[in-house]
Amino acid sequence: MKQIQMLDLKAEYEYMKDSIDAAIKKCLAHQKWIFGPEIAELEDTVTKYLNAKYCIGVSSGTEALVLSLRALAIETKGEEFFNKEDKIITTPFTFTATGNAIARSGATPVFVDIDPETYNIDSKKIKEYLTSAENVIGIIPVHLYGQPCNMDEIMGIAAEYNLFVIEDTAQAFGGEWSGSKLGSIGTTGAFSFFPSKNLGGFGDGGMLSTNDPEINEIVRMLIRQGGKDKYNVMHVGYNARLDTMQAAIVLAKMKYINEFIERRRKIAEVYNKDLEGIEGLSLPKIPSAASKHSYNQYTVRVDVEKRDLLQKFLNEKGISTMIYYPLPLHKMASFERIMEISGSLEVSEMMSQEVLSLPMSPLQKEEDTYYVTETIKEFFSRNT
Ligand SMILES: Cc1ncc(COP(=O)(O)O)c(C=O)c1O
Repeated sequence: MKQIQMLDLKAEYEYMKDSIDAAIKKCLAHQKWIFGPEIAELEDTVTKYLNAKYCIGVSSGTEALVLSLRALAIETKGEEFFNKEDKIITTPFTFTATGNAIARSGATPVFVDIDPETYNIDSKKIKEYLTSAENVIGIIPVHLYGQPCNMDEIMGIAAEYNLFVIEDTAQAFGGEWSGSKLGSIGTTGAFSFFPSKNLGGFGDGGMLSTNDPEINEIVRMLIRQGGKDKYNVMHVGYNARLDTMQAAIVLAKMKYINEFIERRRKIAEVYNKDLEGIEGLSLPKIPSAASKHSYNQYTVRVDVEKRDLLQKFLNEKGISTMIYYPLPLHKMASFERIMEISGSLEVSEMMSQEVLSLPMSPLQKEEDTYYVTETIKEFFSRNT
């Protein structure tokens, strides 16, 4: 029986082996493991790719979010941390890290519901909340699965209410909104190099992008214990540097990034065409011509009573799938005591029951993509 993985990292490594092995060998030769030359090289390469002003290599996507928030607390309030009265709007339909980062910065996460078409935070609901809310300082939109949020609407709201915008771009490296790369539009962008991401390393890593020189300067201190150098310490910092080895690997993979995103888009096209019109199955929608999805995940919605059955059926046929996310953040015990909720979060709750991410491996053969679609069709023909 065929075995189709969500993501075949071994195949990717084989494809890029020469470049990656050469990059690792270079590190072994120079032995500059901390702030080695590959860090600045990667920062420059990504800065140019995003058409941003600054990029800073950091230890993970989570830390890119926390560092963005800490730098903003220092820059805008002259405080090391935000406090509970400071409210930051985000989506509950995201990875835990988004909400955790807000809590770790000292602020209160405010969960606002999502749009069922894009799975992303609903700008209309942000506006509704803002008409009566006080002390809101920022928004963290998450470009979930690689699907861009409507950045015109979000930046418009931010300008009207004087809010910062941190783009959680952990899942959306290479995606675009209106010709701008995601992560280059807000006050900062937070990227993850977690291995399963579009631009993944061989371990944890991340990057923070910004056009603000002061944020750049503060973050560069915060990643090394808060100082310009070891003993000239200005802030309560972290050890949140990107490793040289991860930078070298990610840099080698940057050569393939556009090709790999195009491959993802081609696979999505096959899914879109071949799965269209099945009752009980909704496909990801591209809501605007401004929007260029980068398909970190290809996520469908399945009628609630059939989702788990479909997953089981696909699994029995050798096809792996994932549920991102089975539990929205406002249902997690850790947020119970600290969050604020804006109205009903029923769309997020419904999505957590309905979403299913299909295999999306850039090197997946076309016949394998068709095997997935045929198997899905077989399931629906048996379960009408
Ligand atoms: C939406 C989102 N935000 C933040 C993160 C955190 O990134 P990392 O795992 O690199 O800390 C992830 C990834 O895991 C994510 O998917």
